[in-house]
Amino acid sequence: MIAWLWWGMFGFFALVLVGVISLWLYAMQRSPDAENASQKSRLPNRWILGGGIILPLASVTVLLAVGIPAGQRVLTLPSTTEALRIEVKAQRWWWEFHYPQAGITTANQLYLPASVPIEIHGTSEDVIHSFWVPSLGGKIDLIPGRVNSIRLQADQPGIMRGQCAEFCGSGHAHMIFRVHVLSQADFDNWQQRRQQAVTVPAEHQPAAEAFRQHCGDCHTITGISNGSGAPDLSNIGARRLLGSGRRRGEDIGIAEWLQTHPTSVQGTDTPPHQQLAPEHHDAIAAWLETLVQ
Ligand code: CUA
Repeated sequence: MIAWLWWGMFGFFALVLVGVISLWLYAMQRSPDAENASQKSRLPNRWILGGGIILPLASVTVLLAVGIPAGQRVLTLPSTTEALRIEVKAQRWWWEFHYPQAGITTANQLYLPASVPIEIHGTSEDVIHSFWVPSLGGKIDLIPGRVNSIRLQADQPGIMRGQCAEFCGSGHAHMIFRVHVLSQADFDNWQQRRQQAVTVPAEHQPAAEAFRQHCGDCHTITGISNGSGAPDLSNIGARRLLGSGRRRGEDIGIAEWLQTHPTSVQGTDTPPHQQLAPEHHDAIAAWLETLVQ
């Protein structure tokens, strides 16, 4: 509806622009002596009445008639009890999505069932960010100490891009998340997979132990650690982007990312991860690559 409203406004304003330019060209080249005295007094009145009062009134009435229902549809109303609630927390420069009903938390990945109303309730940990998925329409500011909400719905399964839409510092342009819209069955499967504890094969046991010791205070991996303040890494191996939108998993591995990312998180509280011994570093990275549930 928002997209149609925008295209409607664009089309109408384009017509107005063409009309005004045509009149201007006509006025430039016609002879000023062509009209008689009575026309001279009637014409300005018509323009004031038609162009200055009737046209704006009609435009605003049509805009309100379409715009108010469109606005209503993105409000989170008490009547939409069947909506899936997702809590969003933005911080410099990444996203946390929490599914309270299922008890799942993801970082920089928003999973949605198709054709189900979604209620996004969002806040910020530090500065003002803005939650925006252009393909879904609607946008809300995420403000520290306040919860804003919006209702969205994705009609088709697919992958979309979400982006922070409020300048929030040097990492703003990279503050991206991926939206995975799944069929209801796939979404249920995903939830079940994500609720299970990560099982660690024997060869990665030392890495998991080192992770628990050195990283577990901040990072959560379901069944391994229960940290807070840093991204949940339970399925980091499946992510296409590392550190929000900074690097793609195909171009750069987690081991390399751990070594290079300190410069990219300057200005945040994120520690540089340099306290880890190199052998821990590589072992942990190799294990994290296998977490794809
Ligand atoms: Cu967060 Cu811009």
